[in-house]
Amino acid sequence: MDELREDVFLQDDLIEELREDHAETEADDGREESSGGLSDVTRRTFIQGSVATGAAVSMAGGNLLQPDVLRAATEPVARTIDLRVNGETHELDVEPMDTLAMVLRYKLDLTGTKLGCDRAECGACTVLIDDVPHYGCSMLVHQVRGREVTTVEGLERDGVLHPVQQAVLDEMGFQCAFCAPGFIMSMAGLVKANPNATRADAQKWLAGHICRCGDYNKILNTAERALENARATLS
Ligand code: FES
Ligand code: FES
Repeated sequence: MDELREDVFLQDDLIEELREDHAETEADDGREESSGGLSDVTRRTFIQGSVATGAAVSMAGGNLLQPDVLRAATEPVARTIDLRVNGETHELDVEPMDTLAMVLRYKLDLTGTKLGCDRAECGACTVLIDDVPHYGCSMLVHQVRGREVTTVEGLERDGVLHPVQQAVLDEMGFQCAFCAPGFIMSMAGLVKANPNATRADAQKWLAGHICRCGDYNKILNTAERALENARATLS
């Protein structure tokens, strides 16, 4: 979750850079547009759009309403991207403001990633990005180009369940299980980061998730079992 917070806090700096870069872009506009082709201004506009829309999605409140941010967010950006998901590369046509969760669900049909609040509160949309849990609803798909995304569909390998998936079966850890994919992906991040974590560590690590069934005790039992399973596969 610290990673996630860093991402959010970083946006303030990026907004500042965006403002400065935007002023510079306006000064350069005439000369660069006349040169044609994929000019720097196009590249910069793309980055601005991604940063601005990323900030708009990740942060509630004031920044959404800043005219510079709104203007940059509506300028043209590259549409075709290569996205690495569960070990495969997908060439996708995306909109500038498409979130990672939307693309996973509606363009790749990976519906294991759930959308609960769609505003960085419930954790249902959690996926791993380079093995670190992130809210898929609060990252633009443009922000994860060149990175490795793992969804709940990608945990099983060659017919063998991931230690967390096995723990869910062992402990029957969820009631309705709508929250399960998000918790599972965070637990997968935890066993990767520290298989020796304790129940108290797991409780802190999973603090960014909400289970509407209030099944927290069983979910923590599952986390403990997942850590045990992971240690057993390592030994
Ligand atoms: S849907 Fe992303 S945090 Fe709730
Ligand atoms: S088990 Fe129902 S929301 Fe968590």
